[in-house]
Amino acid sequence: MKNLISSFNKVALVSIFLLATSTVVLAQEKSLYERLGGYEAISAVVDDFADRLFNDEVVGKRFFGMGDDSRAGFKQKNINLVCAATGGPCKIISRSAKTTHQGLGIKASEFDIVAGHLVDVLNKFNVPKKEHDELMAIIGTLRPDIVEKEGE
Ligand code: HEM
Repeated sequence: MKNLISSFNKVALVSIFLLATSTVVLAQEKSLYERLGGYEAISAVVDDFADRLFNDEVVGKRFFGMGDDSRAGFKQKNINLVCAATGGPCKIISRSAKTTHQGLGIKASEFDIVAGHLVDVLNKFNVPKKEHDELMAIIGTLRPDIVEKEGE
């Protein structure tokens, strides 16, 4: 009888442990990458975003002289960057933001135009506010490495 109770206790303890761990697993939020819709959704956002930069009357000048192949490479580097930075299974294939933007003399107002295009695309794709804000916060962390002319 004592053994039976002790086995019952063990089973109860294991059950409680399994229940607790599964609750923790269920409570864990999906990565931003997953919540954004994964690789295809991120690619579509970046594709649209980059085309807006290339065609913008102010920042478009920055991308003059890039042929189709360079533009495709720019898009791929940004897809991988967003994918990796949001917890997706991609490898960053670009060099650091500081290295690649240093010396371009990028103004704060240009950064705002670029960030504004991303906001517009996220709205166009109906990305929910939470995910929208999380992605913009990640992009915001790059600002000090990209902007050289604050106040302009
Ligand atoms: C908003 C955040 C930004 C992100 C996430 C971003 C991302 C990138 C990436 C991944 C590259 C490719 C780097 C490489 O070749 O290894 C790049 C290059 C470049 N970015 Fe940005 N960038 C941002 C803001 C800006 C701004 C504000 C400007 C200027 C208006 C700008 C202008 C450029 C230019 C001119 C290049 C070089 C293109 C080339 O010749 O290959 N970027 N950027």
